[in-house]
Amino acid sequence: MGKSSREKRTQKVIEVLNKARAMELQAIHQYMNQHYNLDDLDFGDLAAKVKLIAIDEMRHAEKFAERIKELGGEPVTGHDGTVKKGQAVEGIFPFDANLEDDTIEVYNQFLLVCRENGDSISMKLFEEIIDEEQLHYNYFDNVDHHIKKLGDTYLAKIAGTPSSTGLGPSGFAVSGGGE
Ligand SMILES: [Fe+2]
Ligand SMILES: [Fe+2]
Repeated sequence: MGKSSREKRTQKVIEVLNKARAMELQAIHQYMNQHYNLDDLDFGDLAAKVKLIAIDEMRHAEKFAERIKELGGEPVTGHDGTVKKGQAVEGIFPFDANLEDDTIEVYNQFLLVCRENGDSISMKLFEEIIDEEQLHYNYFDNVDHHIKKLGDTYLAKIAGTPSSTGLGPSGFAVSGGGE
């Protein structure tokens, strides 16, 4: 097998990794918007969970970028589509369950592209991330069912709950600013 054929195969893998990265960047923006929105509506616990899920998507976007760099590619910075704003609480959860479901479907296709092009590391990365998208799907779908079945009774129990995620401060500045 010649070098150029190998390069072509790597390009195909980089392409799906970048498509996945753009989807993650889109999910981050969408979920951050919903997090502020749910916090405003005073559904603290829902806001906190959506924030944590947005952080998962950031980890995914970084993992895809790291693999793209390892393969000699350039990670994309643009996100895939536009962010829906001002969604009602009843609209958020079926929307997000659907987004995760589509993501799982698409990532399974991308995983096959990695396999066909002989990249088992990228294949495993997709496998690992699909597992986490499944957890997101389960959560969004559960909340959607509660809202559909119990409506205001369920939402009344959530109203006024704290939106704290329990996460300690992290990031560059609070970890000593590089010292
Ligand atoms: Fe993700
Ligand atoms: Fe997700």
